Amino acid sequence: MIKPRDPDAEAALEADDIALEVFIHALKLRHGYDFSEYSRASLKRRALELTRKFGVERLGDLIPSTLYEPALVREIVSHLSVPVSSLFRDPEVFLRLREEVLPMLASWPRINIWLAGCAYGEEVYSLAIMLAEAGLTQRSQIYATDFNDYALERAAEGIFNRQNLPEYRRNYMESGGQARLSDYYHARYELMRMRRELLERVVFAHHNLVTDGVFAEAHLIMCRNVLIYFTQPLKDRVLELFADSLVRGGFLVLGNKEALSATSPVADRFELVSATDRIYRLKRDGV
Ligand SMILES: C[S@@+](CC[C@H](N)C(=O)[O-])C[C@H]1O[C@@H](n2cnc3c(N)ncnc32)[C@H](O)[C@@H]1O
Repeated sequence: MIKPRDPDAEAALEADDIALEVFIHALKLRHGYDFSEYSRASLKRRALELTRKFGVERLGDLIPSTLYEPALVREIVSHLSVPVSSLFRDPEVFLRLREEVLPMLASWPRINIWLAGCAYGEEVYSLAIMLAEAGLTQRSQIYATDFNDYALERAAEGIFNRQNLPEYRRNYMESGGQARLSDYYHARYELMRMRRELLERVVFAHHNLVTDGVFAEAHLIMCRNVLIYFTQPLKDRVLELFADSLVRGGFLVLGNKEALSATSPVADRFELVSATDRIYRLKRDGV
């Protein structure tokens, strides 16, 4: 059945799309946060959530706050950047890392790991636990980066909600965990704080994948659930950045929501390690 046209709804949609572009432009010009190459569907959804959060009616009403209320910008960027994660998220990826990648990393005297888009740090603590259980902590250095400074502060605190504990425990077990998850945190009321020792070999740093350059001579780069928000040209640029940041034979883990497509400009620099978990290895001649 053909739906009757609703000109008012169409006009509102158009106005929202224009407002979204102005909003994105204002964030970039005024604060240097560049969302211009993020895919519009999820950006619009998040921006509309912000209108409800701030109690304003239309997307365009967010623009004055963006321009004149710097205190709100942190909250705006934080919400748009979707800092959602979990301890041992997608445990099969961690299991594969534990069983197939760590033994190969162990052949290097020093292991530099770049966790790009670390959100509130769940992935950082998960990896630190796995390195400890593999006896690799002292040889490792984890650089955990994000462009959301609020998320980085929270990640360094390592405090999570115990409500999620059943999921965390299940993930840990399914990732091949060798101890009890409770060995790695202190519980207090409804919160859990990850043990400080886990941060012994971790550096948190601001890094923006859109604007910043090569980060480290990495042996492993893990960047999961980040590229999904980017347009294809931006994805391609970031994948090139990763290829340039890896040592020969270094590993790239994209996780099960993202893949290195055959048309990517760096596709022939990598070989596939796991098709299901999207783990790739920079070829010896792939530099
Ligand atoms: C959905 S979370 C993914 C967290 C974790 N990697 C995981 O898979 O559970 C996406 C993270 O990417 C970060 N991010 C988005 N755009 C970024 C950019 N341009 N540079 C650095 N980090 C970015 C966000 O701030 C957010 O913390």
